[in-house]
Amino acid sequence: MGAPEEAKRKVRGYGVGGVESVISVEDVNRQAAALSTQGIPEHRLAALAGNAAFVTIQGLRAGYGKMEILHDFSLQVGKGQSLCLIGPNGAGKSTVLHSIFGFTNIFGGSVTIDGKNVTRLSPKDKLRTAGVAYILQDKSVFPGMTVEENLWMGGYLMDKPAQAKEKAEEIFAKYPRLAQRRRHPAKVLSGGERRLLEISRALVMDPEVLLVDEPSIGLEPRFIDMVFEILDDLQKGEGKTIIMVEQNAKKGLEFADIGYVLVAGGLAMADHGDALLQDPEVGRLFLGG
Ligand SMILES: Nc1ncnc2c1ncn2[C@@H]1O[C@H](COP(=O)(O)OP(=O)(O)OP(=O)(O)O)[C@@H](O)[C@H]1O
Ligand SMILES: [Mg+2]
Repeated sequence: MGAPEEAKRKVRGYGVGGVESVISVEDVNRQAAALSTQGIPEHRLAALAGNAAFVTIQGLRAGYGKMEILHDFSLQVGKGQSLCLIGPNGAGKSTVLHSIFGFTNIFGGSVTIDGKNVTRLSPKDKLRTAGVAYILQDKSVFPGMTVEENLWMGGYLMDKPAQAKEKAEEIFAKYPRLAQRRRHPAKVLSGGERRLLEISRALVMDPEVLLVDEPSIGLEPRFIDMVFEILDDLQKGEGKTIIMVEQNAKKGLEFADIGYVLVAGGLAMADHGDALLQDPEVGRLFLGG
């Protein structure tokens, strides 16, 4: 694509083709920006959420320090639905999750969950009172602690430690793989088991909304499938609402009811996950086809 060799070598994550078919980050950015020149109307976002949004972001401007990363970003997802954000590196995908959870500076706009404005709640209160959990925050698992101790820690905001222990038992009953390793230190877990522990740890607080940042990152294919099965069960079996970022756009869009393409801090495309999977431009830019 005319990108310097240097840039090509730095590319990470897109496509499954050989080096020749890889597009540089700069090219993806430029071409993705051209996908949409006008905003996506609110009624379209509402329709994708079944006209019954449970989590709504409206006109959000947010970032770090004084720097605005998200510009007039909106999102709607219904209760029990899943939404996957894809887009080039640095587009602001993680920043969307950070903003929902309360890790960013918010300059304008709002985040509403179940009709309540939660824009200004701290991460602690998001978890405790708004039923939102952020999964795969860096170093969320304590390597020196056992699996069960890690789960108990997931309930540190609960009134009584006994509540967390009770919830941990429910989780062990559901995931025997974790139960078998409950007295092992977390550091000896395999990559897939560790991811399962990271997810389970968030479940101790019984959240309604799961924010999941790149669940497949660093995992072997068989574990990737396992993680998506777990998320599928949490959505379809337990009615959790899932907002996910996934570098593996194919997996993410296959999984999610709704897909958003984020480019340069704004929404470039929004559709059903399977519709985006079929979209030739999405395929070319993000699916390595
Ligand atoms: N904690 C932070 N402090 C300052 N700037 C940040 C911080 N986190 C992210 N940024 C900046 O915000 C922009 C968006 O980053 P973000 O992590 O949201 O992108 P992303 O779409 O998740 O990218 P990737 O696919 O690489 O994970 C980037 O320019 C990044 O450098
Ligand atoms: Mg990210």
